Amino acid sequence: MTSLAAPFPLLHGSELANRFALAPLTNVQSNPDGTLSDDEYAWLVARGRGGFGLTTTCAAFVSPAGQAWAGQLGASGDEHLPGLRRLAEGLRATGTRSSVQLHHGGRRADPAVSGVPTQCPWDEPERGAVALTTSGVEQVVEDFVAAAVRVERAGFDGVELHGAHGYLLGQFLDARHNQREDRYGGSLDNRVRVLLEALAAIRSATGPDFQLGLRLTPEGNGISLPEGREIARQVLASGHLDRLDMSLWDVFMQPRGEGHGGLLIEHFTDLPRHGAALSVAGRVLSAEDARWCLAKGADLVTVGTGAILHHDFAARALADPTFEARARPVSRATLADEHVGTAFIDYLAAGWKDLVA
Ligand SMILES: Cc1cc2nc3c(=O)[nH]c(=O)nc-3n(C[C@H](O)[C@H](O)[C@H](O)COP(=O)(O)O)c2cc1C
Repeated sequence: MTSLAAPFPLLHGSELANRFALAPLTNVQSNPDGTLSDDEYAWLVARGRGGFGLTTTCAAFVSPAGQAWAGQLGASGDEHLPGLRRLAEGLRATGTRSSVQLHHGGRRADPAVSGVPTQCPWDEPERGAVALTTSGVEQVVEDFVAAAVRVERAGFDGVELHGAHGYLLGQFLDARHNQREDRYGGSLDNRVRVLLEALAAIRSATGPDFQLGLRLTPEGNGISLPEGREIARQVLASGHLDRLDMSLWDVFMQPRGEGHGGLLIEHFTDLPRHGAALSVAGRVLSAEDARWCLAKGADLVTVGTGAILHHDFAARALADPTFEARARPVSRATLADEHVGTAFIDYLAAGWKDLVA
């Protein structure tokens, strides 16, 4: 069986030292203008030191219109470059590979924070959201590309596009709502187009070593499981991806939609990967859980909560096959010892009640 300690070669750039990836985790620790803070630097560099083969930042907005919450990291302008550069250097020194998760909130962006009216694939007057024009969609693709180029200039190994959880790229995939009549809505081929265009354009705008990832929701947010599978098949077949991360929320769960057998993970592990790594995320809280994911056919294991609880979850799980994350809830002091800053602890205490005592 594949070992968690086995390096993994990506299609582009340097290999990952092991099979553990840090999940993108919003930590609301950025400065009001989206520049990096010391707390966010300390949180992420500690995870690099803690043995993760790949360290991914929180969702970072690609344009002011895409900002979805206060304290969000930005990659939308050159004002963000010095902080991103510092972070890329800090992560590189730990030996981890590094990636910025690129994000646009779409209908879930917050005009009170961004100062820009809400953009969406469709009109949604109750939210004050106005459908993007076709050239507006093309501009969004350009914003993702410009942010990726900026991240590359900052010295990161790559980016991951946030196509999951019902944010803008995921909104385009939504069969219930995206009935646009241009080439970005209606049929599945049209709904997936924005993703494929962004991947192709980033691939051609960045260097041969730049690592390109994508995060997807398998079902839900207006995506049926057969469509979720077809979307994954198409993006893998594009040949642009180094890594596809399926955000399963619980790697052990069955599909929610009726009539689909097996486990959710099994609907993705058999797809042709065209050289990309397949990673899975959701409730991996022990070395045994992570080994189970590899045995099921994943190449990489993406860890969120476990990495909040232990900055060195990866190193511990690599050293000890019986390692399990500490029981929750944990004290604020324990989290502070794990390099979780005060603003992040407050955010976790408010939104993830089982985590903070
Ligand atoms: C505090 C917190 C912040 C998160 N922020 C993001 C994010 O910025 N981008 C994203 O794609 N997922 C985000 N997620 C989802 C995680 O990346 C992960 O997929 C999820 O927590 C399941 O993995 P886990 O059980 O190991 O935590 C967040 C989750 C948590 C708990």
